[in-house]
Amino acid sequence: MAAIEILPGIYSVGVTDWNVRNFHGHTYTTNRGSSYNAYLIIDEKIALIDTVYGPFAQELIANIKEVIPLEKIDYIIANHVETDHSGALPALMPLCPKAKILGTAKCKEGLYKHYYQNWDFQVVKTNDQLKLGRRTLSFIEAPMIHWPDSMFTYCPQEALLMPNDAFGQHLALSEKFDDQVDQSVLMEEAEKYYANILWPLGGIILKKIQEVISLNLPIKMIAPSHGIIWRKDPEKIINAYISWAKGQTINKVVIAYETMWGATAQMAQKIAQGLIAAQVEVKLYNVAESDRTEIITQMLSAKGFLFGSSTHDNDMLPNIAAFLEIVKGLKPKNRQVSFFGSYGWAGGAVSEMQEMLKNSGANLILPGIAFKYNPDKTELESCVEFGSKFAQSLK
Ligand code: FEO
Repeated sequence: MAAIEILPGIYSVGVTDWNVRNFHGHTYTTNRGSSYNAYLIIDEKIALIDTVYGPFAQELIANIKEVIPLEKIDYIIANHVETDHSGALPALMPLCPKAKILGTAKCKEGLYKHYYQNWDFQVVKTNDQLKLGRRTLSFIEAPMIHWPDSMFTYCPQEALLMPNDAFGQHLALSEKFDDQVDQSVLMEEAEKYYANILWPLGGIILKKIQEVISLNLPIKMIAPSHGIIWRKDPEKIINAYISWAKGQTINKVVIAYETMWGATAQMAQKIAQGLIAAQVEVKLYNVAESDRTEIITQMLSAKGFLFGSSTHDNDMLPNIAAFLEIVKGLKPKNRQVSFFGSYGWAGGAVSEMQEMLKNSGANLILPGIAFKYNPDKTELESCVEFGSKFAQSLK
């Protein structure tokens, strides 16, 4: 049976995507796969909370059929328009003739602009309630967590929060619950999800969590729309989100660089030496060889970032340029940042990297450091010194 009863009368009917390795148009590497979770509540009225990515629609339909005939579905709650949660609607809706979709006003607009269907749709707002029978569902609008249409659904009788993308992880496992899985893997994937999808939205997330806390809603279970369900310790992920959203960091520096013939790599190693000697934890990556999603994850808890590039055509190299485009979008506030690199007859990479991040919200420690061709012994010592000075700037 693919449908799993997670609470009496409430079933997980979503699907596991074991093989997905790139998500969001290759902006996120999902090395452990993912899942698109959907939940079916059986009461006097029957509600389906979210659907799945379109290619998995038939699997979702088969899972629901294990529990009830599809035509019995009264409501489909669309917490989020993005296609990994709504993509099955075109296949599902003709099979659910009495189903009404409920979501925010932005959801109504967004679903229409995705599928161009005039489905029966009821707009809901924060505090609106839907009576199913013994249970009710209430809705909490959550705009920009992480799309304008996003919404959380809460079932007070079960103390169950279904927050869609929030608190999720890209993780394909046969297990369903937090108490069944390796905690370090679970938290690593939850942090990766936050860092790569939610980081720029920290202020909004913090406010929303405080709003939910102020409502004094008991929460015994958090069932997100990706990955594992939190039932043993939902507070663990709430507290982690509070810490990430506050931008709490440790004494760590991420060095990310790209090198043409190895001179910039040599500089990176020497800068790392200076940092390590000052008791700073260092993570060092050649971005041309590394997983960008992993680097961003490491950056979330780092106090400082150092970006390096050789100069090519008076500019930075293309892999670090693509990487810094992502960093710029993360708006990494309260982080110390500087730059380094080797050049030939003329420089350019360091100033171009500075230019790219000047409005990112990061605290740029200028000037960076640049040397011609291969740095000599004195210049390499200057790199160690640059690392030491950068370590001082973290205090
Ligand atoms: Fe999992 Fe924003 O979609």
